[in-house]
Amino acid sequence: MPKPLVVVTDLTKSFVHMGRELNVLKGIDLVIDEGDVVAIVGPSGAGKSTLLHCIGTLDLPTKGRIKLGDDELTGMPSSKLAAIRNKTIGFVFQFHHLLPEFNALENVMMPGLIQGKSRREMEGPARALLAEVGLTDRVTHRPGELSGGEQQRVALSRALVLSPKLILADEPTGNLDSATSEAMHELFFEINRKHGTTIVVVTHNNGFAQAMPRVVTMRDGKIHTDHRRERAVGAPGPAAVPPEAEAQAGAATTEA
Ligand SMILES: Nc1ncnc2c1ncn2[C@@H]1O[C@H](COP(=O)(O)OP(=O)(O)OP(=O)(O)O)[C@@H](O)[C@H]1O
Ligand SMILES: [Mg+2]
Repeated sequence: MPKPLVVVTDLTKSFVHMGRELNVLKGIDLVIDEGDVVAIVGPSGAGKSTLLHCIGTLDLPTKGRIKLGDDELTGMPSSKLAAIRNKTIGFVFQFHHLLPEFNALENVMMPGLIQGKSRREMEGPARALLAEVGLTDRVTHRPGELSGGEQQRVALSRALVLSPKLILADEPTGNLDSATSEAMHELFFEINRKHGTTIVVVTHNNGFAQAMPRVVTMRDGKIHTDHRRERAVGAPGPAAVPPEAEAQAGAATTEA
């Protein structure tokens, strides 16, 4: 029986902008099981990033509930949320926010150092991850001395260094060339196969979404479709993504 890791119930999110209320998430119900690999697709402005931020405790919902494992996040004090975030979730965003004054190795070690682990304890895992993403000979480079794709690989290593149960990625390959994107996509699947990590990726990349076992389509603040592909465990293959979801993965038009 799959065990739920993220349970989102009747989630709404509104922003007040220039005195007017803007309803961005309009009642989202979503269950993500341990070990799931899920693409979230949909037009620009549909609310994908907002949903990801709420699940990741980076933003507070207006109404509704989010459960992460056994923890009910709703109403939890921010210090406790930060601790859960640091321990359970790895973030990979398009603009990866590496710390410019630290080198690649130090950036990857950082989540552990923040938790009070020693450099000696963090260095081994950080080096191993950087080797896995092909950056062994770039560990002493600062972000400004790395290419965009290399920076994203450092950010992915940083997201993984504490072996989080959940990875939340927002257009992680949004500004990479197709070969580098492909390599990053493969890395996500490999991480899931190797460590059983649950992965939720917002993407406009058609090919990547199609390769996912589950594709959730958002439209205008709601979940529009949610398709899971039946497959034998460990047998990757093309996903049965409906043409509509496929079209939306590449769409970038705001719905009125
Ligand atoms: N802080 C905010 N204040 C007001 N409106 C906001 C705020 N953040 C987001 N929005 C609005 O909420 C809507 C959803 O934004 P969101 O970033 O979730 O979209 P998205 O689906 O991720 O789009 P994209 O594919 O372009 O990244 C947008 O119309 C945006 O303008
Ligand atoms: Mg977005």
